[in-house]
Amino acid sequence: MDVQSIAMTVNGREYEFSVGTRFGQVPPEETLVETLRRRLELTGAKQSCSEGACGCCTVILNGDAVPSCMMLTVDADGADILTIEGLEDPATGQLDPIQQAFIDAAAFQCGYCTPGIIMALKALLNKNPAPTEKEVDEALSGNYCRCVSHYHVFDAVRDLIGAGKEGE
Ligand code: FES
Ligand code: FES
Repeated sequence: MDVQSIAMTVNGREYEFSVGTRFGQVPPEETLVETLRRRLELTGAKQSCSEGACGCCTVILNGDAVPSCMMLTVDADGADILTIEGLEDPATGQLDPIQQAFIDAAAFQCGYCTPGIIMALKALLNKNPAPTEKEVDEALSGNYCRCVSHYHVFDAVRDLIGAGKEGE
């Protein structure tokens, strides 16, 4: 039987996995969030509902925000993936402006939803650096916060977009 292997880039690093049911192989039914968390120890993407409803597991895949619990790792073959761990500048350790804005606005409580929300915003701002409030709302429509941090999230986004505009 042919051994299927898959490759992907995560946070700029290339990974290759063999697919199968033997020890160390990626089973065909393994989801991307499981691979990220268990094999690559990238635990920023949180697994909560596991059915695409909460957004806690959001990562950016080929430029789009996706719930990584809804994607099989085998289907991510060839993908370029960015997780919350990849946002910090590796050379300087400086946080992404979105991360900094969340800290400045205290836009989280337990923080469980935060990586997913930040990645959804990152995908939006990469495509549209000056979104309207409605566009931000739409981009975050798949992300749920069980605490009461949503108002602070919007404060953080407002600060971020306002700061970007001032610098234009
Ligand atoms: S864990 Fe993926 S959307 Fe909830
Ligand atoms: S800060 Fe707790 S779930 Fe959002």
